[in-house]
Amino acid sequence: MKGTVNRVVLIGTGAVGCSYAYSLINQGVIEELVLIDVNELRAEGEVMDLNHGLPFAPQAIKVWNGTYKDCQDADLVVITAGLAQKPGETRLDLITKNTAIFKDIVKNIMRSGFDGLFLVATNPVDIMTYVTWKESGLPKERVIGSGTTLDTARLRYMLGYYFDVDARNVHAYIIGEHGDTELPVWSHTTIGVEKLESFLEKNDEYTKEKLETIFEDVRDAAYHIIERKGATFYGIGMSLVRITKAIFQNENSILPVSVYLNGEYGHHDVFIGVPAIINRQGIRQIIEIDLDDKEKQQFDTSVKVLREIMAPVIN
Ligand code: 2OP
Repeated sequence: MKGTVNRVVLIGTGAVGCSYAYSLINQGVIEELVLIDVNELRAEGEVMDLNHGLPFAPQAIKVWNGTYKDCQDADLVVITAGLAQKPGETRLDLITKNTAIFKDIVKNIMRSGFDGLFLVATNPVDIMTYVTWKESGLPKERVIGSGTTLDTARLRYMLGYYFDVDARNVHAYIIGEHGDTELPVWSHTTIGVEKLESFLEKNDEYTKEKLETIFEDVRDAAYHIIERKGATFYGIGMSLVRITKAIFQNENSILPVSVYLNGEYGHHDVFIGVPAIINRQGIRQIIEIDLDDKEKQQFDTSVKVLREIMAPVIN
């Protein structure tokens, strides 16, 4: 961490990047925000627009459209650049194109002398996070993918709605690939302090079948949104701010992000979404959930699918 003030450099000022920037400014987390995009005019326009709202922001922040040189003093580089998912396309379809884009971006960032943390959101996010780690040469603790943070938020929101309980009191996780093979960890879900299983027993208007439908809605949420509005951006933007806060406020918060497994959950050399403790240094610790047999099997499948798809592009 080089700067004397907290600086984030955002690479990519498409809808996801700008939703992040907008939400970040409105939550007053950092002092400097630099926007970089291949379309320099676009970045410039976004900076002008954001700056005009600053008199209403909760704290002072400098926002400018910069160059890769600005990464030298950055504490965090957030990457949302790359091609987006089109209707009918899976996240994994994007891999080859976005890997090439990422190699170039990360090389430019490292050339500046950057020595901070990376937060990656571009899809397929687990693989793009791996590419960032490999290309940057930084320790694994300093490269974080948004992982299943958004999927987990979606699950907590939908369960909260179903049970009519504040989503913040729904403790549930989605883990695995941010995509089609992700899974809910029902075995460790609690409503407040009550285990899901006993909550269902005491409240028989709620069914396990409905929970499965809710999970499917979570897993397929991006497809459903893309069908309707062409892209998803607010949810991911706010998820990225949540992770950014955990870093800059040295929170030691537990969030399901994409992290490098080095033996945890019985797997090696893969980035995938699992809960981890996050602070100013990055990933302090991976939390190993004691999964039941079915969950373990689903998680293994998720790792397998990711590894198969990324094999041709990461070597
Ligand atoms: C999402 O889940 C498309 O990954 C994006 O909203």
